[in-house]
Amino acid sequence: MSRNVNLGVLVSGAGTNLQAILDAISERKLAASVRLVVSNKPGVLALERAHEARVPTKVVSHRDYADREAFDGALVEALVGAGVDWVVLAGFMRLLTGKLLRAFPNRVLNIHPSLLPAFPGVDAQRQAFDYGAKVTGCTVHLVDEGTDTGPIVAQRAVPVLVDDDVESLTARILVEEHRLLVEVLAAIAEGRLDVTPGIDGKRTRAHLRRA
Ligand code: GRF
Repeated sequence: MSRNVNLGVLVSGAGTNLQAILDAISERKLAASVRLVVSNKPGVLALERAHEARVPTKVVSHRDYADREAFDGALVEALVGAGVDWVVLAGFMRLLTGKLLRAFPNRVLNIHPSLLPAFPGVDAQRQAFDYGAKVTGCTVHLVDEGTDTGPIVAQRAVPVLVDDDVESLTARILVEEHRLLVEVLAAIAEGRLDVTPGIDGKRTRAHLRRA
């Protein structure tokens, strides 16, 4: 049984992952509602996409805050105020501190364009291409205080083709990112995400139960 999950989506740029979420909701493929879109940058396309879908938006510029904790505090205030249950980083380019993660324990997701733990950080598609990887892909993971180091929820492999350049590879990965992110959120709405906290130094594990 799906229940409506209240999402807060953090963006920094194009917002194609946000658009994938909005489209899935309007096509009734995702039992969720986007309560707020927050960008750390004004004027990005992601904000226009939210406006088109009549989703409330807020710009919280990291430049307006003395430090990361204060910035996160403003994010938490906006997200909690909007009734958000789950936070989705969709092309969001800032590291989060424990302040936001404590407000949404094991409820902050990120979509990353590589098969973590390979190629964390920025420009993951180019990292894989330049390394000569034959298979790369995308990962949805729970966010922790590291850089793309949180518990992996789901992954999708994408081949690197012999005539690829970084742009063609990036475009192929992006298609799979959109599909994977919606699949994970739909599973969460159906209560199918299991999180097993790690003990004795082991990593926390997350996985999606089959429908
Ligand atoms: C995507 O590859 C995402 O994984 C990365 O930024 C790219 C753009 O995302 N973090 P979006 O189009 O802004 O959702």
